[in-house]
Amino acid sequence: MTTHELQQEILRLKKEKNVCILAHAYQSQAVLEVADYTGDSYGLSVQAAKTDAAGVIMCGVRFMAETCKILSPEKTVWLANPMAGCPMAEQLDLPALRALKAQYPGYATVAYINTTSALKTECDVCVTSSSAVNICRALDADKILFIPDPNLGSYVAAQLPEKQFAFYHGGCPRHMIVSAADVARAHAAHPAAELLVHPECRAEVVAQADYVGSTTGIMAYAKKSAAREFIIGTENSIVEHLSFDCPDKSFYPLAVQLTCMNMKLTTLPDIYRCLLGTGGEQITLPDDIMAGAGRCIRRMVELGG
Ligand code: 13P
Ligand code: SF4
Repeated sequence: MTTHELQQEILRLKKEKNVCILAHAYQSQAVLEVADYTGDSYGLSVQAAKTDAAGVIMCGVRFMAETCKILSPEKTVWLANPMAGCPMAEQLDLPALRALKAQYPGYATVAYINTTSALKTECDVCVTSSSAVNICRALDADKILFIPDPNLGSYVAAQLPEKQFAFYHGGCPRHMIVSAADVARAHAAHPAAELLVHPECRAEVVAQADYVGSTTGIMAYAKKSAAREFIIGTENSIVEHLSFDCPDKSFYPLAVQLTCMNMKLTTLPDIYRCLLGTGGEQITLPDDIMAGAGRCIRRMVELGG
């Protein structure tokens, strides 16, 4: 089958089986073309709760499929490629979280959505990159322990000086390796370009950006901006998608290392096998995790909405 034939077959099968395909913005162009909804982590969570399809195929990483299952327990939810995880989500386990919380009595615990469902059961609320500032502002707490990404946490803290923050020193292994030296190199090569970055980048990178936001926030900004050239400081698939969407503008990666191998795992054959019932992983979670993580995720949707 050609790529086009496989896409047509996926579109036919998903309609026949009443299945909705959700794809994170870091997925390949071929995957985005068969999706019912594409977006950032927050958008996917909202969409997962809204869809009335009987099944959902998540093209992204494990925590996204688990979030979808928790928000729609009655639906069959597949993680299209079971090997796709987010390394940041695995950085803290429950004993380590309990030890950290013991160091910060009186702090509310705010978890980036890039965490395991087990971890969310002992956090007050979770946030995404696009909802973190608003949720931390709305949260009825003056002291916040932000886990696991100190880069996103510091970006939020800088905008909420009235609150006190403590951090865990985890972070995205891809975004955290980009440095001010990469920014200097990219600016030297493309002096007229605007720099758009994800808040998972280090503070030294974020400080130089013309725009800081989530994956879809970056895409929306680039489409609206009057500038003609952009340096993209997030996963390099966004460079490709923007190049498709805005052929009259130029997009350059901030660094070649900004490639998330986990997000790259999902392919059209993975989606096809989910629809045939021969592949993917159907997500199931123990009742206590569904309930505990559900409280944390639903609070995000309430405060973020
Ligand atoms: P968004 O919330 O911006 O989609 O980011 C998710 C992510 O994993 C970024 O690395
Ligand atoms: Fe996780 Fe980073 Fe990949 Fe996003 S880019 S899924 S935070 S490893």
